[in-house]
Amino acid sequence: MATILLTGATGYIASHTWLALQAAGFEVVGVDDFSNSSPVVLERLHELGGRPPVFERADVCDAAAMEGVFQRHRIDATVHFAAFKAVGESTAKPLEYYANNLGGLLNVCRTMRRHGCTRFVFSSSATVYGDPESLPIREDARLTATNPYGQTKLVGEQILRDLGAADPAWQTACLRYFNPVGAHESGRIGEDPRGTPNNLMPYVTQVAVGRREFLQVFGDDYPTPDGTGVRDYIHVCDLADGHVAALRRLLDAPGSFTVNLGTGRGHSVLEVVTAFARASGRPVPYRIVPRRPGDVAACWADPSQAQSLLGWQARHGLERMCTDSWRWQQNNPRGFEA
Ligand code: WQD
Repeated sequence: MATILLTGATGYIASHTWLALQAAGFEVVGVDDFSNSSPVVLERLHELGGRPPVFERADVCDAAAMEGVFQRHRIDATVHFAAFKAVGESTAKPLEYYANNLGGLLNVCRTMRRHGCTRFVFSSSATVYGDPESLPIREDARLTATNPYGQTKLVGEQILRDLGAADPAWQTACLRYFNPVGAHESGRIGEDPRGTPNNLMPYVTQVAVGRREFLQVFGDDYPTPDGTGVRDYIHVCDLADGHVAALRRLLDAPGSFTVNLGTGRGHSVLEVVTAFARASGRPVPYRIVPRRPGDVAACWADPSQAQSLLGWQARHGLERMCTDSWRWQQNNPRGFEA
C-alpha cells in the first residue's frame, strides 16, 4: 500500500487524518517540529492506531532535515498540513507567516521533486474566499485574501497550479476546509490550542470545563437569523475522511483538483452554544461584545464538487460535533499537557 508523508503530523487535523489513513490501509510517516503541537499526540496515536507511529521530528523549512526524511522513507504522496494558522497573529507577524507557510511549502515540494514524488495534497482554507459574494460558496467563487494567513493559502494554491502547468507529472489536490470542530470518538485526541483559543469551539469547551469564565460572542448585529456569525462547521473526522478520498483519487486517477470540504450547512454562534450546552449538560455563559475585525457575516460551502469527484460527503451533524468535542475536553481538561 502507498506510503503517505504528513507534515504538521501531530496537529489537530493531521493527527485525525493519520488514524483515518492507517485505517484505510495506508502506511504513514509523520513529520512535525512540535512548534504548535504536543509530543503526547504520538503516544495517543500509538494507543489508538495499535502500532508505534513512524515519526520524524523536523522543521519543514529545514532543507537538510526534509532531505533526510525522503532518504529514509519511500514516500508516494505528501499531505502538507504544516503551517501557522492564526488569522489575527498573521496580521501582526506577516514575515513569519510568509516565511513559514510558503517557505515550508516550497522546501517540501523541492525535496519531493528531487525524489520523484509528485502527488501533493494541500491544506487550504475557506479563508481564500474572503467575504463571499453569494452562498453557498462554490470552488469557482471569487478568491480574495483579507489577511496574510489567507494570502499564504491563496499563493500556496497558485504555486501548485503553476507547478502542475510546468510539469504534468505533478498531481495536486487543494482541500479548502471550512470550520473544523469535534474530536475522535475515543476522546484521546482533539483540538488543543496554545494560549487563548482564537476559534469558537475550543473556547466554548474551555468555558464548559471551567478554564474560562464566559464566551465573548463577537457581534449579534450581523444580517443573519439571530444576528450572530454563521459558519459551516465540519467534524474533524469527516475532514480526515476527505483526505483519504482525495489521496485515493490522486493515486488512482490522472489530474489535479480543488474542492471544498464542508457540510453545506451553516450554523450561528448561538446555535453552536445552545447545541453544546445540550450535548454537554454544562452551561456556557456568554456576553455579546462588538464584532471581531475581519469576520464575515456568513460562510458555508457548496460541497457538491467533493461529492461528485471524490464520492465524499460529511456524515456528522452539529450534535455529534459537540458531544465529541466535549468528551475530548472533559477527559483532557488541560489538553495534552501532562
Ligand atoms: C467562528 C464564529 C466568530 C470565537 C477561522 C479562520 C479560518 C479557519 C477557521 C484556519 C465567528 C465567532 C469565535 C469567539 C465568537 N482557520 N466567535 N467568539 O473566523 O470562521 O475561521 O478559523 O484555517 O481560516 O479564519 O472561525 O472559530 O474563529 O469563528 O463569537 O471567542 O465564531 O465571530 O462568527 P472563523 P472562528
